[in-house]
Amino acid sequence: MPVTLIIGAQWGDEGKGRVADVLGADADVVARYAGGDNAGHTIAVGDEVFKLHLVPSGILHEDVSCVLGNGMVINPVNLLAEMDGLRARGVDLSPERFLISSRAHIITPAHIALDRASEQALGEQAIGTTLRGIGPAYLDKTGRRGIRAGLMRDAESFADAVHDAIERANVALTGAGASPLDASATALKWIDAAMRLGPYIQDTSQYINRRLGEGARIVCEGAQGTMLDLDHGDYPFVTSSSPVAGGALAGLGFGPLHVDRIVGVTKCFSTRVGSGPMLTELDGALGQRLRGSGENFWDEFGTTTGRSRRCGWLDAVILRHAAQVSGFTELFLTKLDILSGFEFLKIASAWELDGIHLKLPPENLEDLQRAKPVYETMPGWDADLSRMRYQKDLPPAARQYIRRIGELCDTPVRTVGVGPEREQQIALNDAL
Ligand code: GDP
Ligand code: IMO
Ligand code: MG
Repeated sequence: MPVTLIIGAQWGDEGKGRVADVLGADADVVARYAGGDNAGHTIAVGDEVFKLHLVPSGILHEDVSCVLGNGMVINPVNLLAEMDGLRARGVDLSPERFLISSRAHIITPAHIALDRASEQALGEQAIGTTLRGIGPAYLDKTGRRGIRAGLMRDAESFADAVHDAIERANVALTGAGASPLDASATALKWIDAAMRLGPYIQDTSQYINRRLGEGARIVCEGAQGTMLDLDHGDYPFVTSSSPVAGGALAGLGFGPLHVDRIVGVTKCFSTRVGSGPMLTELDGALGQRLRGSGENFWDEFGTTTGRSRRCGWLDAVILRHAAQVSGFTELFLTKLDILSGFEFLKIASAWELDGIHLKLPPENLEDLQRAKPVYETMPGWDADLSRMRYQKDLPPAARQYIRRIGELCDTPVRTVGVGPEREQQIALNDAL
C-alpha cells in the first residue's frame, strides 16, 4: 500500500487526525496537502491529548517523517508556536523528520486582517471563517502575487515581501474602513519565524517521489472536508482549498497510480461549524445531546476556534457525494459511542426537491437550500460501546446502523471509532 489518502467526508472535524494517527503507525511518511491552521486535529494517546493545526498527526510516531505539502498555506509564527509546544512535550521535530515544502504559501498578517475585514463586510452573510487568513492567502496564490515558503531561506527578501504585502493590504483595509497595520512592527515576528524555519524547507514533491521509489508507505492527511471543498462543497460557504482526493495529488506532487487506499472519514452523525446549509441540523435537545456539554475534549466545540458545532442526523446524500468525488475505497466511522442511549436514530437517505427524491446534492446553493431531508428511522441501542473491541460485541442495532450507512453510499465501513483513543476502534468485516 504505497499511498493512503484520509479524506473528510462531511464539513470537517470528522476525526481525520485520529485516523491519521492510527494509520500513521504503519506508515513511513504522513503528509498534509491542503489548508493551514484553520484545521484542528485532536489525538488522544493515553492520558495525553494533542491538538494539532499544522503539524501532521503522524508526528507522534517516532519513525514517521512528516511533510507540509505545497498545497498548504502556512502561518510561520503559529507553526513555530505549535512546534515549540510539541517539543516541550518531548516530540522530535528535527529537520530530518519534519519538512516544509518550498512551494507552500505563506499566510502574512495582511491575510489575517483581510479575512477579518471581509467577514465584517459580509455581516449576516459571513462565511464564519476561522479568521486565520486562509481565503486571502489562497487568493494571493491564485492571483500570482503570493509569498512562497522557499523565500524564508532568504531573510532579507522575505522581510521585503512581507512588508510589501502589508502595505498593499493596508490600501484595501483602509478602503474597507478597517484600521491599517503597522507594517514594520507586524512583520518582525514573521521575519523571526522565517529565520528559524529555513532549515526545514525542501522540495517535498521530490522528497515524496524519492521515498516512493524506495518503497515507503505514505499517508496523506486531509484537512477540512468534502462539503468545504472550493469546487465540490456548498460554495460560497466553503474554504479556499481542495480537501478531496484530487487535492492530495496536486497538493503534494505525486502521481495518482501510487494511491491504493482512500479512506473517507465520517462521524456517525453530522456536525458543521460556520455558516452554510445543513439540512439535517437539529436545534433542540437531540442536537444538544449530540454536541455534548463541553466537559469532554471530544464534545462538539471547535478545536481551532472553540465555537460550538452545529449538530444533526447523518446525511447519506452528503456521504454519497463525498464517496463519489474522492472514490473512497472504505469508510472510517467515528464517534459511534456517542449514539448509545438514543431510542431511535435517523439517517437522511435522500433529499426531496420539488417532489423529486435526490440521491446526490443539487448543483446550486439555491436548490440545495430548498431541499428537505427524507429520513429513514432505525432503532437505537443502550449498551456502552467504549470498551468494545470486536465486531461481534456490537449490539445488533449498532451493526444494522453501520451496515445501512455502507449500503447507502455504496462503500464498506471498515472501521468504527468507539472513543477518541487509539485503541478505541473496531475493525469490521463483510459478515457485519
Ligand atoms: P479532525 O479535524 O477531522 O481531525 O477532527 P477533530 O479532531 O477536529 O474533531 C473530532 C473529535 O472527535 C476530536 O475531539 C476527537 O478526539 C474525537 N473523536 C474521534 N473519534 C472519536 C470516537 O470514535 N469517539 C469519540 N467519543 N470521540 C472521537
Ligand atoms: P479540520 O481539518 C471544520 C470552515 C470554517 C468556515 C469555512 C471557511 O479540523 O476538519 P476558512 O477559515 O477555511 O476560510 O473557513 O470552513 N472550516 C472548518 N470547519 N473543520 C475544519 O478543519 C475547518 N477548516 C475550515 O468554519 O465555515
Ligand atoms: Mg478539526
